[in-house]
Amino acid sequence: MQKIVIEGGKPLRGEVSVSGSKNAALPVMAACLLAEGECRISGAPRLTDIDTLGKVLTSLGAKVLREDGGDLVIAVEDESKSTAEYDLVRTMRGSICALGPMLAKRGYAKVSLPGGCVIGARPIDLHLKGLQALGAEIACEHGYVTAKAKRLRGARVYMGGSFGSSVLATANVLMAASLAEGQTVIEHAACEPEIEDLARFLIDMGASIEGAGSHRLLIRGVRRLDGAAHRVIPDRIEAATFLAAAAATRGKVTVRGTDAGHLAAVLDRFQEAGVKVAANGKAITAEGGDLCATDVTTLPYPGFPTDMQAQFMAMLSVARGTSTITEKIYPERFMHAAEMSRLGAKINVRGNVAVIEGVERLTGATVMASDLRASAALVIAGLVAEGRTDVRRIYHLDRGYEDLVGKLSALGANIRREED
Ligand code: EPU
Repeated sequence: MQKIVIEGGKPLRGEVSVSGSKNAALPVMAACLLAEGECRISGAPRLTDIDTLGKVLTSLGAKVLREDGGDLVIAVEDESKSTAEYDLVRTMRGSICALGPMLAKRGYAKVSLPGGCVIGARPIDLHLKGLQALGAEIACEHGYVTAKAKRLRGARVYMGGSFGSSVLATANVLMAASLAEGQTVIEHAACEPEIEDLARFLIDMGASIEGAGSHRLLIRGVRRLDGAAHRVIPDRIEAATFLAAAAATRGKVTVRGTDAGHLAAVLDRFQEAGVKVAANGKAITAEGGDLCATDVTTLPYPGFPTDMQAQFMAMLSVARGTSTITEKIYPERFMHAAEMSRLGAKINVRGNVAVIEGVERLTGATVMASDLRASAALVIAGLVAEGRTDVRRIYHLDRGYEDLVGKLSALGANIRREED
């Protein structure tokens, strides 16, 4: 296993380009299961999560090829393979987004139940409720969900849950409804940019979808969807992670190839925390100076994303004053707080609220990454800390950040990978 070694205390400076969005690429890849022909996806980042979904799609009869230029070319060759096995699905919950397309296209799908994960329980009831509303017969047995329907029928589906809308449940139902008979209305749909991106791809495949990017989606089912080409949107979380690292280290970094429109809530909180932020076309610059405390609440889009909560905590741990972070999407997503305390951060977690008392300095130590965004937060804290920080279990980072070490090195960080 590898670890990341950081000699901290150096401000990050320079420019960095963001990769394509992992969370946009995953449902777009799954949507290729709906197509009659070949699909070409540009901008899918080189990450283990993308490789894992590639393996899931291969196990479901698709041919998945990464061309030298980086494009993914996906074409279904054998529709008889309809089981997504536990060993693949357990490593990435995003595999659940194969359920809707397989059911709609093949009339049958069997996908391992993903189980819980370190950021919380993460149930899939909304996925199943939505597909049932379209007429699917669903059974959960022996750790698998089996869904059947001769042809799905359009329906009115309410997709709100106890924690708001669900991104991948909306994706699943949207994909399934695109091939259903008749009209579907999804109320309380997720309106994340990744859903809008998926809808754009489906429309290019021949789907009829109105309202993408809003809480109400209107889908008129079509008989067939064809192959199409698509470029995924830039990764808003990767972009914001670099901005947080720049601010926390009191540096100045310009992130290129991003979309500031997707980051309104995050940029607002940066400004509240005293970070100088300038957005200019597809570039955003953040400069850290006298950071001050602020309060953050995670919410579905366009609110502050839960996927930026840990990185923001790392930054606020060295801001003047006392900040709070209220986690409303995954109430238990605070595993990073205890690890950050090992670096000298003062963080108290009570229920779904973390209270962060800013300290003057952090000091390097060995810490353990628990999930993808927690890992990124520990790297940021390590960049701030004086002396050496070893971040262990970094396979989490390889799931969601393309060449993080290379990109941070180019910004002047003293950071490397080593065998642990
Ligand atoms: N929820 C339910 N029932 C469901 C589905 C979700 O109660 O059937 C709850 C969840 O437990 C959570 C809330 O609804 O409390 C929102 O979860 P959501 O379904 O939106 O999450 P997701 O679609 O499974 C995606 C991202 C996550 C990101 C969340 C929230 C992908 C592949 N994953 O997950 O990304 O945190 O949306 O924005 O798109 C990450 O990239 O690090 C990551 C975890």
